[in-house]
Amino acid sequence: MSGPIPLIVAIDGPAASGKSTVAKAVAAALGCVFVNSGGMYRAFTWWVLQKGIRPDDTAAVLDLLAATRFSCGEENGVGTVSVGGTRMTRTEMASTEVNANVSVIAAIPEVRDRLVAEQRRYAERGGVVMEGRDIGSVVFPDTPFKFYIDASPEVRERRRRSEGITDSIARRDRIDSSRAASPLVVPPDALVVDSSDLTVDEVVERVLAAVRNRRMTP
Ligand code: CDP
Repeated sequence: MSGPIPLIVAIDGPAASGKSTVAKAVAAALGCVFVNSGGMYRAFTWWVLQKGIRPDDTAAVLDLLAATRFSCGEENGVGTVSVGGTRMTRTEMASTEVNANVSVIAAIPEVRDRLVAEQRRYAERGGVVMEGRDIGSVVFPDTPFKFYIDASPEVRERRRRSEGITDSIARRDRIDSSRAASPLVVPPDALVVDSSDLTVDEVVERVLAAVRNRRMTP
């Protein structure tokens, strides 16, 4: 006998569009687990660099991928990831080196296949709010709850700088949008929210209102 279908909310968007903050608040309001799928790509990128492998040496990256065990779980409503038995800290995952290399690693189809499988597993365990680049288009194409959080390039640059992080987001966006495997796209059935002139609370409210609305419509 199968239980109720878990709620899956997909939130995509470009770098520094504010989707992490929004997704976290939406997950808390809905009682779902919050998963930052970018953290998984960042964790594996950190692991690649740690092993002294050049991210553009695809053959070596694939050898490492085959030898690596991922462990994705949940702690206090937030998705966690360990790679090769090591849990990366937030600082490691947001380092300048990871920022500069994560899009190259995330463009490798085999890396995506492994991590997408882990991402889908969350929805087998219960409700989830997941944010990333391809959540509505590839990971959970069947969910009716799809959002695309955008913001102008200027606002996004400013937000990232104010976090004190060195991050060439324009370059990452270019690679993420132009890669062959699961590029960043706006899913046709997603609700697009431009957060440039909105507060976090306003964006969260719009997402929650749309989720509640669509839930009531059969
Ligand atoms: O927080 P920010 O938007 O800057 O990035 P992130 O969500 O941590 O994602 C880091 C990188 O991982 C992105 O630039 C993509 O290259 C990759 N990524 C992806 O390819 N697919 C996802 N679903 C999530 C992230």
